[in-house]
Amino acid sequence: MSADTNKESVEPSKDTGMEEVVSLCARRGFIFQSGEIYGGINGFWDYGPLGVELKNNLKSFWWQRMVRERPDVEGIDSAIITHPRTWEASGHVEHFSDPMVDCRACKKRFRADQLDEAPKCTETKGGVHDLTEPRDFNLMLSTQIGAHADAASTAYLRAETCGSIFTGYRRVREVARKKIPFGIAQIGKAFRNEINPRNFTFRSREFEQAELEFFCHPDQTDEWFEHWSEVRLAFHRDLGFGEGNLRTRSHGEDELAHYCKKAVDLEFLFPFGWQEIEGIHDRGSYDLTQHAEFSGKELSAMVEETKERFVPAVVETSVGVDRTALAILCAAYDEEELEGGDTRTVMRLSPIVAPLKAAVLPLSKKLAEPARKIAAELRRRWNVFYDDAGNIGRRYRRMDEAGTPFCVTYDFDSEEDHKVTVRERDAMSQERVPVEGLAAYLRERLEAHL
Ligand code: GAP
Repeated sequence: MSADTNKESVEPSKDTGMEEVVSLCARRGFIFQSGEIYGGINGFWDYGPLGVELKNNLKSFWWQRMVRERPDVEGIDSAIITHPRTWEASGHVEHFSDPMVDCRACKKRFRADQLDEAPKCTETKGGVHDLTEPRDFNLMLSTQIGAHADAASTAYLRAETCGSIFTGYRRVREVARKKIPFGIAQIGKAFRNEINPRNFTFRSREFEQAELEFFCHPDQTDEWFEHWSEVRLAFHRDLGFGEGNLRTRSHGEDELAHYCKKAVDLEFLFPFGWQEIEGIHDRGSYDLTQHAEFSGKELSAMVEETKERFVPAVVETSVGVDRTALAILCAAYDEEELEGGDTRTVMRLSPIVAPLKAAVLPLSKKLAEPARKIAAELRRRWNVFYDDAGNIGRRYRRMDEAGTPFCVTYDFDSEEDHKVTVRERDAMSQERVPVEGLAAYLRERLEAHL
């Protein structure tokens, strides 16, 4: 089984390069290297003040659509370190590996199926690597629990969040008094010791997944697979992805993971090509059959009318939160020529995920008091920025780079007419709005997308 069976793309890149996105992310504090002051740690990333808001908004939107709006789905939040038997039962201890090769000359390590993208060898004359035979490299990260570090104390950091959904399935079903079909959803960290982390956060060693495991009768799998594929496509379209940058791709037989009968990837057109952001999987009855066998517990269900016993099948939707956040950032990035020859960088983020929904910018520091009052009022509902320092044009540009949909300017006329100017980020249009109706005005526009 390959940890990431996605085929590398040959599609041309978009105009926006990754360098611009990476640079803006660091400059504005969306995402930057973890342990930056020590030179960074490969495959690990930190989200700054804007990044954490964006990521939390994305997770909340997923939770809203997949859990709160669904009477047939329950949410959980399970431990990162799961009982070690979980990963024996799931097949991860045995199969969760990528083929790895080492160069005897430069000592670098590569994934054998990605050699065409490897940089040239720095130690041989022609730059050709002197490679070892491929061997399987297990991607699970392990740790030791307790005072004695021996084989018995080894535990794994989960490689996917669904493991504990399967081990908790019986308890959740009982406490939530659910009948099949129903689903269990979870958002959380997953860890994979990737051989070549790359493309910014795209392939990391620590990342977040949002997963739904939907338990149904095996005869109904196709129906539910269709249903969830549509729901998931609609979710990505609501985030602003469309025909130009979102597509589906079915896995060929040779690409399927060991637990999988059928898989469809949702792919996004990144600057480095089409790549998977979400997988929809027909896992059959593999998981509950395995866990029933390894735990000795009864995990089957019964059709009430016929009393037929069956092991529920699972349709899974598994989206990478960090990958989707990266897709959102790439799609939003724009450089726009302005009249007079200036260029502005603007993040055209959907209000659903925008880290700041509005900024309050008084024209002068003398107007700080009433402007701060407006900001405080708006903060009761949204994440709102306040800034009274410097040139107003520069303040607008900073908010464009942060992707803030609305800037609210309090000027000297506001003192008289009790109105503020609301500037919309994308069209840069401006409108006078009464202070009294400002929250309602913003709510209508911010929530028009929902
Ligand atoms: N439970 C099924 C599962 O984990 P997967 O295709 O291996 O399936 C699902 O992973 C999603 O998790 C991927 O579509 C991707 O968005 C995200 N993902 C997987 N490996 C990743 C990595 N190394 N870095 C960032 N995201 C990753």
